This record gives sequence, C-alpha cells and structure tokens, in this order.
Amino acid sequence: MANDASAVFDTLSPAVSNGSLADPFTPPADSSLWRKNFLLGAATASYQIEGAVNEDGRLPSIWDTFSATPGKVLAGDTGAVACDHYHRWEADVEMLASLGLEGYRLSIAWPRVMGAAGLPNRKGLDFYKRLLSRLKEKGITTSVTLYHWDLPQHLEDRGGWLNRDTAYRFADYADLMSRELAGTVDAWATLNEPWCSAYLGYGNGHHAPGLANDRFATQAMHHLLLAHGLAIPVLRANDPASQKGIVANIGRGTPNSDSAADQRAAHLFEVQHNAWILDPLLKGAYPQDLFELWPGTEPLVLDGDMQTISAPLDFLGINYYFRTNVASDGAHGFRDVPLEGVERTQMGWEVYPDGLRDLLTGFKRTYHNLPPIYITENGMASDDKVIDGHVDDTQRISFLKRHLAAVDQAIKAGVDIRGYFLWSLMDNFEWAFGYERRFGVVHIDYSTQKRTVKRSAELVAKFLKERKARV
Ligand code: FCB
Repeated sequence: MANDASAVFDTLSPAVSNGSLADPFTPPADSSLWRKNFLLGAATASYQIEGAVNEDGRLPSIWDTFSATPGKVLAGDTGAVACDHYHRWEADVEMLASLGLEGYRLSIAWPRVMGAAGLPNRKGLDFYKRLLSRLKEKGITTSVTLYHWDLPQHLEDRGGWLNRDTAYRFADYADLMSRELAGTVDAWATLNEPWCSAYLGYGNGHHAPGLANDRFATQAMHHLLLAHGLAIPVLRANDPASQKGIVANIGRGTPNSDSAADQRAAHLFEVQHNAWILDPLLKGAYPQDLFELWPGTEPLVLDGDMQTISAPLDFLGINYYFRTNVASDGAHGFRDVPLEGVERTQMGWEVYPDGLRDLLTGFKRTYHNLPPIYITENGMASDDKVIDGHVDDTQRISFLKRHLAAVDQAIKAGVDIRGYFLWSLMDNFEWAFGYERRFGVVHIDYSTQKRTVKRSAELVAKFLKERKARV
C-alpha cells in the first residue's frame, strides 16, 4: 500500500509543478480562501472507512446490525471491509499529507474503544492514538467527532437514544476519550448531524436503528443534545487546550411559489432541518413551530436540560449539501416539489451553493451568539471511473469551487468561518446507499483497495501548494 501511495504522488507532482494541469479550481485572488489561517482539510467517518468490524475487541454497532438486515442498504453492502482503513491508515495519512491537506476530520468508533461495562478497550484505543499522533507529526490539524452514528448495539438493545441513560453513557465515553487522547486533538465535536441520528434513525427509519415514529425522533433528538451538553464540560476539564463543538447538517428550503402557504412551508422545512437543532443549542429552547408540524410530539425535558444543552460552544460545525424546493402539503407541513432542469449530483441532490451562503448569513442574523464556524462537510457524489490511471471528476471540481466561493461570500458578509473540510477524503460506505455513491476526492477500487487521487484532489493540492508558497 505504501508503494501505491508514493506512486500516485510521483505522477502528481510533475503535472502540478510544470503547470500542465488545467486549473478550473483555484479561487480568485480576492478570495478569503487565500488566507493562510483558513483551514482546508478533508473529512471521513469511522464506520464508512475503517472496516475490521470484528477485530481487536470491537463490539457490534447499530450500523453492523442495520446493514446486515436485508433491504436496508443498497446491494446489501455493509461496512465490514469498507476502505480497510483500519489496516491501511499509515498510507492514508501519507496520502493526506502529500495532498497538502491541512486538516483531517475523523470520527472514533465508540464500540471499538469501550466495552459493554464501560471499560476501555486498549487495542481499539491504541489505533486512534497511533493515528492521531501520526497526524500531529505530519503537522495536520485534527478534528475528532465522537459520534458519527455507530452507536454500540448493546446500548441500542437498552433503548438507544430513546433511553435517557444513553446520554450519560456518552458523557462517560467522552470522558474516557478526552483523558486518553488529550494533546493530540485540536477540535472535539461531540455529535455528527443529530438530525440524521434522530430523524433518519428514529423518525423515518432510513438509517439505523430503523425506527419510524415522529415522537421517537423528538425524544431521541433531546437525548442526543443532552449527551452533547453533558460531554462539553467533561471535554473542557480533560482537554482544556482544544476547541469543543458539535456538527449540524443544515438544509435550505425554498418556497415553490410566492403564496403565503408555500412561504410557510419553506419556513417549516428550515425549522425541521435547522432550528430543531440550532435553537436548543444557541437559544436554549426548542422552536415551537416544530410541534405545529408534528403535533403532540414534545419530548420529555427535565429541569436543567436546556441549560446543559445550550452551554457555550467554541465552534459550530456545519455540513451542507443541497436545497429542497417545497410547497405546502395542504395541512400542517410541507412536501418536496423537485425542480426540473437544475444541476444534480449522483445522489439526485440539487447543486445549490447559494443555499450555503444564505443559510450562514441568515444564522448570523438569527443567533446573536453564533460561534465561529467550520464547514465540516461539503461535497458531492459522482459515478467516477478510473481511466488510464486518472479520474476526471469535473463536476466535483466545479462544485467545490462554487461552494468555496459561497463560503467566501458569507465571510465577506461578516460570518466568522474558519475552515472547510471537504467530504470526503476517499470514496466510502455511503450509509443506506452502500458503495455505489462516490463522494471521495480519492477513488477507491473496492476489489483491490487501490487508492487513485482524483483530479479534484490534485487541484486542491495545487492550490494549497501555491498558497503555502506565498509570502
Ligand atoms: C452526511 C454524513 C456523512 C456522509 C455525507 C454524504 O450526512 O455526515 O457521513 O454520508 O452526508
């Protein structure tokens, strides 16, 4: 594997240095992206890349169970092998470093590092210790997400996020991780996308654990946010020098017409996708409109919970992918009205960079205490093929350029955005869509595990090299 990686970079460098690589990516001279302290990195998540699900004492997660259930994941794919990153991590770090990426956002698999009785699993912990130390040796900024959806199955067996106790178990896990890994983590994010865990996991059942009930979704969300709030002071106590935050996915909803009903539908869409998470975190209260959308689903909230949840954050991680055009459903809610003739990705998601800018500037107006922001995920899937040793992912290059321009516009409009992690470093297990959807800037051949740097990654590397060389 080490040989594979160096071969890739032997071919990359001449093309970059002799200028023969066409460059539809490099941001314009006045872009804030040229600022050296604007962190540019890539992200991954444990279950999507690691594989080795039965090794070194790792316990099953809800995604092992869910993906092994017929009909839940496209083509019956599972994360059992994925990108085999658990064994190939050294070459993968080399690859990251050779691309000049300055930051790496990864997640820890909770079932790999903690046994059912709450005791540490040393072998699993050592994996992350080695990985994080190597990243630091390479000068890469480390952003670690504690929970990117792989809940230990034994906790799901006791109710998962419907059980308040899971929030306390999460705080224990955060305690163990921050005691063990302090000094190697620049930024801790408690949760990745609680909306997906709560709504897709417990509200519509598209994700693990596959339950479908709106009341479950609001209660799961409350326990997820509580878990976050309980973990923040623990992380602060154990690892004071690092940044602490959370990662939320945000969605742009636009009205299908000027009618008051459609405007209201778009508002409710954004309440359901954004305010449901951001209001409790930044205002200490759930948005009441949410319960207009889902009457009778108020979660059980105990005294003090909202204060715990709204503890100050050092940063807010934002994941953005697309917008949804909506109309009133004629009752309390909204329905999707897909626009025709717009650019879409392999996921069918509309390419809509303005949505990122508009949401960020909107949040700045809505939340007076909006913390500094990192874009912790943005990217797209395409049906990439290796041809003559290269992957020409032209749509992705243009996608990244346009979204980075949207970030620049938001910065110029006064939003404090400190960095951007593209999703993803490499093609990986895309949850319910398995391996068919390729989000990486590095291509994975799943039959050989060969990594091939796509054109997009070469151009990002070229830009970073130029930025670094500037005085
Ligand atoms: C986000 C997830 C990430 C990846 C992208 C495409 O919702 O956080 O793991 O699947 O979508």
